[in-house]
Amino acid sequence: MVKQQLLTKFMNIIEKMNWRYATKKFDINKKISSENLATLLEVLRLSPSSYGLQPWKFIVVNNPDIRAKIKEVAYGQTQITDASQIIVFANKTNIDANLVDEYMNFVAKEKGIDVSLLEGFAGMIKGSFTGKSIGDLKGWAACQTYLAAGNLLTTCAVLDIDACPMEGFDRSKVDEILGLSSLGLESKMIVAMGYRAEDDADATKKKIRFPKEEVFIEIN
Ligand SMILES: Cc1cc2nc3c(=O)[nH]c(=O)nc-3n(C[C@H](O)[C@H](O)[C@H](O)COP(=O)(O)O)c2cc1C
Repeated sequence: MVKQQLLTKFMNIIEKMNWRYATKKFDINKKISSENLATLLEVLRLSPSSYGLQPWKFIVVNNPDIRAKIKEVAYGQTQITDASQIIVFANKTNIDANLVDEYMNFVAKEKGIDVSLLEGFAGMIKGSFTGKSIGDLKGWAACQTYLAAGNLLTTCAVLDIDACPMEGFDRSKVDEILGLSSLGLESKMIVAMGYRAEDDADATKKKIRFPKEEVFIEIN
């Protein structure tokens, strides 16, 4: 019985992963409930990151005029304005010793310990930054943010919410529209979320994935 229940549970997640697709056309009249939205945002906040540094900000863009401006620099992709919600994933640009120190101060406060106790950990992280170009460090930070986006996409599927991850936009223009550089941020991706339009042709397209033999290497 327990085995059967587990089997059903795992079948469900696979069903959801097959159900989800990068939604091209959203139903503009269907909105994500505030409870679901709160859950999705909490999933983002709880996402893991290397060393726990959380080098991100998730920008919840509600303003329709700003969304229209973003659409203009996103090749006119209608998901930007038609989805119930969009979130712009941004990275902090100061991936450096200061960021580590700020984080350690926060950790010390949360744990109620003296920050000096975290010197070793801080030194290790700073050491790992040594010799890396700012490009490499930003790339590393972006990896963390993409993990959070992955969590969001999976949670959307579990909650029967449609979503589209999007990189098809001019990042520097989105940064400008949102005033991100003055906040020490730069945009990486956008996730549009809501409910598929009944006539979104992409909903019924075959899912194209490499077969298991191509994607897994088993080392025994
Ligand atoms: C990082 C990333 C960026 C993407 N950018 C866009 C985009 O700008 N517009 C779009 O319609 N789909 C975009 N996609 C969706 C992919 O094309 C889609 O996930 C892929 O073809 C697999 O199809 P499926 O998600 O429908 O299963 C993006 C996906 C990822 C992961």
